[in-house]
Amino acid sequence: MTAPPRPSLEMIPMLDLRAQFDTIAPEIRAAVESVLTSQQFVLGPQGEALEQEIAAACGVRFAVGLASGTEALELGLHACGVKAGDEVIVPSFTFIATGSAVSALGARPIFSDIEPATFNLDPDQIEARITLRTRAIVVVHLFGLAADMEPILAVAEKHGIPVIEDNAQSFGATYRGRKTGSMGRLGCLSFYPSKNLGAYGDAGMIVTDDEKLAARMRSLRNHGQTGQYLSTERGWNSRLDELQAAILRVKLRHLAEWTAARQAHARLYNDQLKDLPGIVLPRVPPGRDHVYYLYTIRVEGRAGGYTRANDRGNEVRSDLVQQRLKGRGIASMVYYPVPLHLQPLYASLGGKPGELRVSERAAREVLSIPIYPELTREQIERVAQEMRKAVLQDK
Ligand SMILES: Cc1ncc(COP(=O)(O)O)c(C=O)c1O
Repeated sequence: MTAPPRPSLEMIPMLDLRAQFDTIAPEIRAAVESVLTSQQFVLGPQGEALEQEIAAACGVRFAVGLASGTEALELGLHACGVKAGDEVIVPSFTFIATGSAVSALGARPIFSDIEPATFNLDPDQIEARITLRTRAIVVVHLFGLAADMEPILAVAEKHGIPVIEDNAQSFGATYRGRKTGSMGRLGCLSFYPSKNLGAYGDAGMIVTDDEKLAARMRSLRNHGQTGQYLSTERGWNSRLDELQAAILRVKLRHLAEWTAARQAHARLYNDQLKDLPGIVLPRVPPGRDHVYYLYTIRVEGRAGGYTRANDRGNEVRSDLVQQRLKGRGIASMVYYPVPLHLQPLYASLGGKPGELRVSERAAREVLSIPIYPELTREQIERVAQEMRKAVLQDK
């Protein structure tokens, strides 16, 4: 099998997991070897140790390993009492799993708009969407940045509704000194390989301070069993396997240094891209630590009704910029081009363009550029340089 070409100064991908593997290969191989020697593959000592380490890292008492972030959301919502016919408030601008976990339970996602500066749920939009059927609010900490939790928790508390944190993208981020995932009733993690802490396959986890909830999740992930071959309710098969747990434990030891590298890259981009007309850089409100799962800019331009021009009178559009970057060997991605209320999946819910304007505008304008830890300073500088050219249409 031929390997794909390695990234270079000319070819810069969104992510280079091989570069990361090169730095930790002996540790990973030893961890895998120890699981192979033990021949214990599902629900064992590696998973238990990882749960304790993740709980400590999040500042909570309990963590329960699961098969994916999507199932963390689904089982978590179920454990919070969400059932068919209920409503769950979710942001429209997020990955589809946030909504589909709600739909999987037969409940209805009620899409809410986001803040333009942070791409996260707008606390002021929530209360108007609460009805007698509202059973939960799912807050997503998108791209590595915490949502504005205090006002969200306040409105949830006022109405007696649990908050579930979709922390798939922001493990390690903080909000006023508290870790994301630790502020609501429970937090959901994804260890999908591209995540800041990524497994070598699918894996997820919930974190919580609620002992009963943690015990219920342990049962739910294992067919609702509460004793040996004794099931008290319908559950799932959603267990974190030992190989993934062992790999994640190795990677967790490196996460602080990888996060610091992402943050340093972001500072470099901020410096090199500032004052670029028509480009809005990520904003970090005071009291929050961004862990830069993604470095996402807005390319303001004429798309779907918006007309902006840069100082040379040229249109600036994220798709044009993306094409130009691609032509120069630099990858970029649009996360996410279609907000959830306009997804074909949810057509039957009747979402219409113009309903959630901030989400729709974000979907038209966002562009994420490479920020993985192993990027070199030269690569970052080249991305920034090519971005300037792409925006200013220099040849
Ligand atoms: C915001 C968000 N929620 C949920 C998920 C689902 O996680 P998983 O892919 O582990 O099922 C992801 C990631 O993939 C995500 O980015």
